[in-house]
Amino acid sequence: MIAFRSVEWLGDHLRLLDQRSLPGQVQYVDLTDHRSVAAAISNMTVRGAPVIGVSAAYGLVLAANADTNLDGAALREHLEIAADELLRARPTAVNLRWALRRVMDRVNAIRNDSAAAIREAVVLEANRIYREDIEVNRAIGAHGATLVPDRANIVHHCNTGALGTVDHGTALGVIRSAHAMNRQVHVFVDETRPRLQGARLTVWELTQLGVPNTLIVDGAAAHIMRTIGIDLCLVGCDRVAANGDVANKIGTYQLALAARAHGVPFYVAAPLSTLDRQTASGDMIEIEERAAAEVTTIGDTLITLPGVAVRNPAFDITPAEYVTAFITEKGIVYPPFEEGLAKLFN
Ligand code: MRU
Repeated sequence: MIAFRSVEWLGDHLRLLDQRSLPGQVQYVDLTDHRSVAAAISNMTVRGAPVIGVSAAYGLVLAANADTNLDGAALREHLEIAADELLRARPTAVNLRWALRRVMDRVNAIRNDSAAAIREAVVLEANRIYREDIEVNRAIGAHGATLVPDRANIVHHCNTGALGTVDHGTALGVIRSAHAMNRQVHVFVDETRPRLQGARLTVWELTQLGVPNTLIVDGAAAHIMRTIGIDLCLVGCDRVAANGDVANKIGTYQLALAARAHGVPFYVAAPLSTLDRQTASGDMIEIEERAAAEVTTIGDTLITLPGVAVRNPAFDITPAEYVTAFITEKGIVYPPFEEGLAKLFN
């Protein structure tokens, strides 16, 4: 049983589970303005592509409610500025742009200039995105479970569960669905340096669900494939280019290379909201670079020389050729991906 909500709209404010303090402390933050939502996305109070999109949509609800004296035209302008601020919070996950666009398209479709009608449209669309996310993840779980054999050993990277979504999860949702169908699975959880989403979040979720799991350092995955044997890798994604190149948490690419070398299928769970048809290939995806301190410190302890040169790309690109298939809410897509992914939107 999972007894938390990563994100919740409480009528006049947004409540986020603070993922930075997990698993030690389960605490929530209440946000009342869109700039606090943008900050929570940037500092990773909330993280994971789908849930940052949902949070940003509610950020627009807060922006819409901020000043009830604005007329319709002024409110539209205020929302455009707020959407820009929210969009800048993190650059790689396309769900942020997708969710903000959905809300703003709804606002722009309103014919009259009544501020009340605009406010209502914003909250209705945010609620719709929230509800759809749960349905989408359950569908991904159901499709993906067909790829998971009984007694499967699985490698999972980062966190793609109910924390990274509204509920159920994407790649972790596949594991959850397979487990609910009584498949015996064992998950080798990549710790996911530097922010340890695997060690801190995925282990926490899997343990609550009763799914057997073993924590490994990222560098151990290839060794586990060679010695113990892995049946499949399951990862999520932050953006998939039109050609099937995948942007996901740093370390995904090397996991895919190891999987290919050992003949292990490499599956990417991808809601349609993460497919970016406007971006032709992974080379065009902006990769977020985060603070050096994420690499040089563990907790408050410096683990290297002060001032050492650091690169800290938060994501990498796995070329499409290393992906066995995408698991979407509309079914499983095998190569050639360009055509297969495009067809999902017909
Ligand atoms: O930096 P993060 O923790 O936001 O990165 C998250 C990931 O890379 C996940 O794999 C992805 O967003 C899918 S979450 C369902």
